[in-house]
Amino acid sequence: MLVLRGLAFIGEKWQRANIAISDSGYIVRIWRSSYVNRQILSKVDAIYNASEYLIIPGLVDVHVHFREPGEEYKEDFATGSKAALASGITTVGDMPNNRPPIDSLENFKKKLQIVSKNAYTDFFLYVMLTSPSELSNIYKKYGSVPVKVYLYHRNSIENLFKWSLPRELLYVFHAEHPEYVTDHNKAKDAHELDSIRPIQAELKGLDVAIKFAMENKCRVHITHVTSYAVVKEIAEARKKGIRITCDVTPHHLVFFLERINPRSPLYKVLPPIRNRDAHISLIKAVARGLVDAIASDHAPHSHKEKECDFSEAPPGIAGIQYLLPLLYSISKVTNIDFELLVRMASENPARIFGIRKKGRIKVGNLADLVVFDPKCKEVIDPDKSLSKATQHPYNGMLVRGKVIATFLRGRLVYENEYITSKSGTYVWECN
Ligand code: DOR
Repeated sequence: MLVLRGLAFIGEKWQRANIAISDSGYIVRIWRSSYVNRQILSKVDAIYNASEYLIIPGLVDVHVHFREPGEEYKEDFATGSKAALASGITTVGDMPNNRPPIDSLENFKKKLQIVSKNAYTDFFLYVMLTSPSELSNIYKKYGSVPVKVYLYHRNSIENLFKWSLPRELLYVFHAEHPEYVTDHNKAKDAHELDSIRPIQAELKGLDVAIKFAMENKCRVHITHVTSYAVVKEIAEARKKGIRITCDVTPHHLVFFLERINPRSPLYKVLPPIRNRDAHISLIKAVARGLVDAIASDHAPHSHKEKECDFSEAPPGIAGIQYLLPLLYSISKVTNIDFELLVRMASENPARIFGIRKKGRIKVGNLADLVVFDPKCKEVIDPDKSLSKATQHPYNGMLVRGKVIATFLRGRLVYENEYITSKSGTYVWECN
C-alpha cells in the first residue's frame, strides 16, 4: 500500500492528510497526518512525502484534440497525453473531428483500438453527431459516449430536429450558429474574426441547443463559452428546468483583443478571442460560480501551418501542458478562487460526463492525484514541450505553480518533468 502525505483538497477544503492507496489504485483510507494508526502503518509499503506541496484531484479535461487518427503530424495520442500528465490531467475527452471523422461504430472502434495502445492518461472519446442508428449502436457497445455537435457543420441543425436521437447521451455543442458566422479565412486579424464570428452567433447557437434539449428531453453541454451574455442565458434556462451545463477555456480567461498581437495566427481560435469587456464579463461569470467546468480545448497545429498570414492559418490554440499553472495564475490575478477552478477542472466535469470514481479525493475513488507546488514560478519554454505543438501564445509567459508529480489510479506516471509510466485506459473500463 502506498501513502501520499500532504495538504490535500478534500471535498471543499484543504486538509493535512495521509491518503492510503490500494495496490489496485483506489483510495482506501484518509486520515489526519498527526494521527498515527499502527495497524494501517504496518500495511504501508511506501510513503510519498508531499508535505511541502498541495495534493489536488487529477484533472478531467473534457475537450482535447489529440488528432489521432489522421493528423499525427500535428499531435498524436502519446504526445498529447504526456503533455496532459505534466499538467496534472489524468483523464481527457478527445474530440471526433479526426481524419476520418468519428461518425460510425466502425470508426469509433478503430480509434479506440489505436488510442488504447498510445494513451498515457485515461480517456473517453466523443462521437460526431450522426444517424440515430449509429449512435445507438455505439451507445449499446461502448456506453454513454458524448456526442459532439458542430452547429456550423452543414445539416447539423436540420438533423438535430429531424432525427429521433437517443435521449441517454450528452450532446456537447460548439454553439456558433451557421447563419451568424462567416468563414474564418475572411478575417485578416483577430479583431475581424471577432466581428465575423460574434457573441451573437453563440447566443443564437445556444437557442438551438436549448430548443433541442427541450424537444428531445436530453442533457446538453455548451463548450467554450466566451462571455457573460451566454452564461447568463444558460443559467436562466437551467432555472426553467432545462438540463444544460457549460465550460470555458483558459485562453478566453487569459487573452483579450486589446492585449494580444491581433495579426498573430497563434491567437486564431474558434470561437474567437473577445474584447476586454467580454473577457472581464466571463471572469465575473466564473467568479460567481455560474460556469460549470473548464477545459483546455487543446487544438494543436503544426509550426508550419501557423507560420502564415492570420487569414490562412487553421484555428486552434494548444497549451494543455500548462493548464494547472494557468488556473493557479488566473486565481492570483483575478477574484476567482483557486478552489473553484480546481472543482471546475476535476469534480464538475467528472460529474457532468458521468465519469465514475474520479474528480474528487475520497475513499472509494480512484487515486488520480496531483502533487502541486504553488511556490514555484516558471517561464513557459517551447523547448520543454511534450506536445508536438511547440508554438502557442503561452510561450514566454510567467506562470505560477508547477506540477511535481501525477498519480494515475495510484501509479506514479509523471515526476519532476519526466514521464515515469504508461497506463492510460478507456474510462468505462477503469472501474
Ligand atoms: O479553434 C478551433 N480549433 N475550434 C474548433 O472548433 C476546432 C479546433 C480544431 O480542431 O483545431
